[in-house]
Amino acid sequence: MALMNPDSSDEMVDHLVDFFDRIAPVYDTWAGGQHARVAGRLVDLAAPIKHELVLDVGTGTGLVAHLVAPRVSPGLVMGIDLSENMLSIARAHKTKNVQFVGMAAEHLVFRPGMFDLVTMGEALAYFADPMTALAEANRVLRPGGRLAVSCQRRSLSTRAQDLFFQGLAPLARRHYLSLPRYSSDRSRFGEPDVLPQLLGAAGFDVTRVTEMVTGGRAKDARDWTELMAGAGPLPFTLIRSLGPRYRDELEAEVEAAMASLGDPDDAFRYHHSYVLAVATKR
Ligand SMILES: C[S@@+](CC[C@H](N)C(=O)[O-])C[C@H]1O[C@@H](n2cnc3c(N)ncnc32)[C@H](O)[C@@H]1O
Repeated sequence: MALMNPDSSDEMVDHLVDFFDRIAPVYDTWAGGQHARVAGRLVDLAAPIKHELVLDVGTGTGLVAHLVAPRVSPGLVMGIDLSENMLSIARAHKTKNVQFVGMAAEHLVFRPGMFDLVTMGEALAYFADPMTALAEANRVLRPGGRLAVSCQRRSLSTRAQDLFFQGLAPLARRHYLSLPRYSSDRSRFGEPDVLPQLLGAAGFDVTRVTEMVTGGRAKDARDWTELMAGAGPLPFTLIRSLGPRYRDELEAEVEAAMASLGDPDDAFRYHHSYVLAVATKR
């Protein structure tokens, strides 16, 4: 299946880790705390119980790990990530039974069958090699252990988001920026028929799939551009690289693009949608 072919490179990993290092201070407050809401839903679905040993892969600022910790106490939670700045925010929030370590999802240094539960909150589509990361999660889980995954569902983006994101590649070219990108297959990971397929192919039986759809409206082009800068490495690097004059120019283009939608109600409207799945190791 084409979706399983990772399209990774060291350059892409560097770019990605640099993005997460730079957004770390605002990650938890982005879009009014959107990531924390998804983390909360994922933890409820994963249903951690007392004494369990849990691994949170791509833990970031530890949103999932910190919610799991009190539910498994005196069990333990390990959070792993590649971004030191995300990890240092995770570590600043003191919880006795959580530890955060720098480690790649594709190369876990844990013994087979060690964990009762592995969580991956909004991380799978960012990994250099998602199928290896899933195979590693499977390896470190005990038989019957659970995997809980959330993934952004990009097909539910609004017309305003589609228009904005389609404009980014030409904008990058105009500014002579050549930024690494993952193949577009990644954008389908969060489809309700694709995520279960990926988990099935990695040796899991999917027990639950559910969705979370939220949305909102930015108040103007400045607000919109700021919000979308936090949406991923490409918009972030591009928007942050623009000086004041080009930034004004971009906002004027955003304004015109929103007007071109025809219906003022569609302008500046965004959706943040996710698919969440729980699966057991076969
Ligand atoms: C969108 S954040 C998710 C953070 C957190 N799990 C949550 O639910 O909010 C994705 C995280 O995956 C991490 N990441 C990306 N590639 C990774 C890899 N190959 N191994 C481990 N972590 C990785 C990033 O550094 C980032 O912190």
